[in-house]
Parts: sequence; structure tokens; C-alpha cells
Amino acid sequence: MKKNVWKILLATVLLASLMLTACGGGATPTQEEAMPTEGDMATSGEQVEVFSWWTGGGEAAGLEAMIGVFNAEYPNIEFINAAVAGGAGTNARAVLATRLQSGDPPDSWQGHAGQELIGTYVAGNQIEPLNDLYKEQGWLDVMPETLIPLISDNGNIYSVPVNIHRANVMWYNPTVLKDNGVDVPTSIDEWITAMDILQAAGVTPLALGEQWTQMHLMETVLLGSLGADAYDGLWDGSTDWGSAEVKAALDDFATILTYTNADAASLTWQDASQLVVNGDAAFNVMGDWAEGYFRELGKTPETDYGWVPVPGTSGVFQFLSDSFTLAVGAPHPDGAMAWLTVAGSKAGQEAFNPIKGSICARTDCDPSLFGVYLQSAMDDWSTDKVSGSLTHGVVANDSWKSEIDTALGLFIADRDVDGFQTALVAACVASGPCQ
Ligand code: GAL
Repeated sequence: MKKNVWKILLATVLLASLMLTACGGGATPTQEEAMPTEGDMATSGEQVEVFSWWTGGGEAAGLEAMIGVFNAEYPNIEFINAAVAGGAGTNARAVLATRLQSGDPPDSWQGHAGQELIGTYVAGNQIEPLNDLYKEQGWLDVMPETLIPLISDNGNIYSVPVNIHRANVMWYNPTVLKDNGVDVPTSIDEWITAMDILQAAGVTPLALGEQWTQMHLMETVLLGSLGADAYDGLWDGSTDWGSAEVKAALDDFATILTYTNADAASLTWQDASQLVVNGDAAFNVMGDWAEGYFRELGKTPETDYGWVPVPGTSGVFQFLSDSFTLAVGAPHPDGAMAWLTVAGSKAGQEAFNPIKGSICARTDCDPSLFGVYLQSAMDDWSTDKVSGSLTHGVVANDSWKSEIDTALGLFIADRDVDGFQTALVAACVASGPCQ
């Protein structure tokens, strides 16, 4: 019975192919003609689905530039852009988690180097090692030594970093500061004095957005108040979350929050940073993807916006790195490898980063392709002390970060510093190194 079905199928296929040959002029193709060309393969069903949270407002343009490099190098593979909107991946990561749980992974997704990658996706056996690709492409010679341990576990390398972003940047409006006789502050005390003057003049001193941007502000204030060594110690257990120095840092954070706009919860990071370049606020603390956004808005560096390390953090580069993974069970592994090859390439990174507002993860990109802000970031990256970001996945795994986020949400509502500190101690005991 089964044999008969196969016979009928075979006959149908043969008939169809005879008819197609007839339509094409009847000649039997030579072996060379029968080989698909790159053009033919555009319709061959080769694809890659890439998941990120870069959908616009300064986020998508860099990705589009890298997709342009991909399309030029792999015209035969269809790029499916599965980006989900929402700064810092707050929405995207929830969608990704659901997809991973239901066994429907995208081929490759955006993940932050550090604990987000190792503590979540590697720990959950959701991504494949990429050691062979690194060897084949010679990437160990061009990726920074500081980064490799943050994407490795047990001798395996698990992602391809596309950039280095800086978290501890304070953007300011030079005209607003000048009009109010305020100098750019470099210490937390100077910052608070400046914000007193601005507030008295009826200017919003510090633009702030939705909750993840508040965590972002918090981590930079912790760094500025504690200093880099004690800040780093929060993540390896050597700084006591219950100490007086952490209490002083949280007090600083509470004070700084009093200078922010009342509608923060309803603003995206783009809304908040735009207040500064539009002259509606003096300062905004945001990663340097804001620079990509300011450029997209047509703003001019040093005229429409200035930058400085968040007060108290000069000489420290609080970093994060976007990287791309290969899913376990990727539906299109060849497409995924092609994408990762572009993501790690000089051409891919040189197209992406000057627009995204980040510097290359690779060490061999041409600096002249980058604007004045990013050139200063390159200098700082090569000389500063490097610390990691909490909000963007470097220093804490997802469960610890989510407990900190819950505590932060309560604190934003009640402004009880002691209660906040107690909750942060408990979070470190429950999910961090303080057990
Ligand atoms: C970060 C990400 C950046 C940028 C930012 C705002 O987590 O690493 O590339 O996209 O979120 O969405």
C-alpha cells in the first residue's frame, strides 16, 4: 500500500519536472546549469530570524546598516527582523522567554555580555558554543580580552559581541546651563548644587523616564558615590549591601530623584533624553545609545548636547555589550552562522556602531568613521577603569536583577531609604553572592 503511494508520488514529480523542462525549452540542463546560483537561491527558502529590541528612536538605524552589510554578503538568505519594541529589552525579553519556553527560538537573539548571557541562556542550555566560528574568523585576536570571559563558560564562547556601550554618561544642554550660570558638575555635591539653582529657576534639572531608566540612574549614582572598587564589590559579595557607605549612596540617589520630572513613569528613554536636547531639561543620565538618537534627530554634538561622566565617575567606564547568540535548535543554523559572521566582522561593526552610538567590540575599527563623542568614548575605553552595568546585564543574573527591580519599584513609591536598603540586602542573600 505504502509502496504504491510512493510510486504515484515519484511519477507525479517526474511528470512535473518533464513539463518544467519542456517550458524552459526542452534542453536537459548541464550539471553547471543545474547548480543554483546566488540569485536563484534568493527564492530557495534560506532564512535567518534575528531577535532584538532595536525598533526605532535611534535604535533601528544601526541595525538596518548592519542588515545592509548582511544582504550584500548573503543575498541568498532572507533576513527576518524579529525586533520587539521597548527600551532595554523590557518587553522583548519577556516575549523571548515565552518563545524559548515553548520551543520556538529565533535563530539568533540579542543578549548582554555578562551575567545575563551566562546566568540565563547558558545556564538554561538555550545557546550553542561558537568556538569554531571564533577560530575560523580569528576573532580571539580582535575582540578585547576583557570581554571574552564575560561571554564564556567552561572554555566555551557563547556569543558574538557587536559593540561596547557606556552607561555612565550624563548628557546636558549647554545653553540651559549657560543661561543659568551653572558649570558642568563633576562631583555629586556639585551636581546637587547645580540642580538646586536650576530648580529655583523653574528648569527641570534632571530628565527621567520609565522604571528601567531609574535603575540605570541608580547604578550610576551607586558607582559615583561608592567609587569603582566598592561598586564592583556589590556584585562579588565584598561590599556589604547593609553598610553605611551603601546607605550614603542610596541617600544620594533619593536626593537626586527629587530633581526629576513628575511624569517620569510615562516617558520612554527617548522622551526623557529629548527633553535635554529640546532645552526642556538640563541633564539626563543615559547610555550612549542616546547619542545615536540625538544624531538621528539632527542635533549637533557640543552645541545641542554635551556629555560628561556621571558626577563622581570620572575615570571609570561603566560598560555593557550587546552580543548575538546561536539558539540551541535554531531553525536556520546556516543562516544564523552567516548573520553571526557579519555581526563579528569589521565591515558589520563599522556600519553598525557609528550610527548606534556605540564603539566597536572589535579593536580594529577605523576611528575616523566615528563622531566626536564616540572618539572620546574610544579613548576612555582604552584608558579608564572598567566596571559593569546592572540594568544591562553585566553584573547580576536575571533573578537578582529582578529582585532589585521589585525593591526599586517600592522605593520609587514610598522613598523609604532604610526599607530599600533592607530589601537590597535580602535580594543579595536570595539571589546574589551574599548567601
Ligand atoms: C540596552 C542595549 C542598548 C540599547 C538600550 C536602550 O539594554 O544594550 O543597545 O538598545 O538598551 O534600548
